[in-house]
Amino acid sequence: MAQHKQTEIVYVDRNHPDRASIERAASLLRAGELVVFPTETVYGLGANALQPAAVERIFEAKGRPYSDPLIAHIADMAALEQLVTTLPDEAFALARAFWPGPLTLILPASSLVPKMVTAGLSTVAVRMPGHPVAQALIRATGTPIAAPSANRFKHVSPTTARHAFADLQGRVQLILDSGPCEVGVESTILDLCSDTPTILRPGGLSLEALRNVLPNVQPPVRHDKPAAQQEEAEAEAVAQKAPGQMRVHYSPAIPAYLFTGTQEEIRAAMLKEVLRYRAQGEEVGLLIADEDLETLRHSEAHIYLLGKTAQEAAARLYAGLRTLEESGVQVILCRDFNEQGLGLAIRDRLLKATGGKVIYASTLA
Ligand code: TXA
Ligand code: MG
Repeated sequence: MAQHKQTEIVYVDRNHPDRASIERAASLLRAGELVVFPTETVYGLGANALQPAAVERIFEAKGRPYSDPLIAHIADMAALEQLVTTLPDEAFALARAFWPGPLTLILPASSLVPKMVTAGLSTVAVRMPGHPVAQALIRATGTPIAAPSANRFKHVSPTTARHAFADLQGRVQLILDSGPCEVGVESTILDLCSDTPTILRPGGLSLEALRNVLPNVQPPVRHDKPAAQQEEAEAEAVAQKAPGQMRVHYSPAIPAYLFTGTQEEIRAAMLKEVLRYRAQGEEVGLLIADEDLETLRHSEAHIYLLGKTAQEAAARLYAGLRTLEESGVQVILCRDFNEQGLGLAIRDRLLKATGGKVIYASTLA
């Protein structure tokens, strides 16, 4: 059990990070403590990446298995060169196009990287975040920062400081609060150690954008095994290729279902299901787009609107899941998104949040 700490939240202006607050956070990190900090994707739970004992505290605080490796966050290309043994041309091209930003590269790890970070793999995940507070913190600390999302293991990732506080209160001394994260889903993880660059986790940078620079980037392999079989396979896995890519990784605490089909079918099926749950006296949460509201506004459900575009939906997705979870509903119904642009990442997270429980709306309509 992690030692109990008084958790303090300090507001830091995103565009003009206050030096004293950054220096305070950096000195905690240098001393081997944990600090929660904002990135453009989600809030991270940071530790000095070069101190194994500090990194170990991340796993303790999150309740995360040691077999799940971490991303090292850097602020300049010199740090990248220290963390890896070789830098393929692709890495330079991608860094030039997308760093700082929501892209994580998997590269061969140098001996400088602790095993606690890589989970014993020969590769390391590296990302240069674009958030000014994250950059200032990495620079002030003077070492790369290892950071997973700042949530308890298997819970929804945090896109506000309050989300991180709800999960990690008492387990971390300091949370830097710069308001909501603008991207809202985690970085895209691209494996540069396989024959063809392959996305391991879709995220804040789209497949289309990556292909503009590297036309041969492969989409993520689909996990379409039945849920039970999938869980069995996951239980066995120690350090698999993308160990965090487990189906139930981003789940809220209550059952959720993903409705797929045409927009009309989805709305009709959702309405029908809400009425059925209401007849049983159950509270229902709906995670829908603005355009669905007309059909569903009188349905006596708790409604969280994801906005009009995939960008907006990505930014609001995790807050929506947490809000509905906290509203006391017994079930959450989510609408599906198409896989263009950020839609690929949204769909991936919804599949995980629902544990792969997909409802084909036409079967209910
Ligand atoms: O946007 C993000 O990436 C956020 C912010 C804080 O930067 N971080 C994040 O970290 O999402 P985390 O730990 O929640 O997810 C990182 C994933 C892990 O699930 C792990 O599977 C994968 O990165 N990973 C790390 N090192 C890897 C490696 N060497 N090979 C394959 N996958 C790796
Ligand atoms: Mg995570």
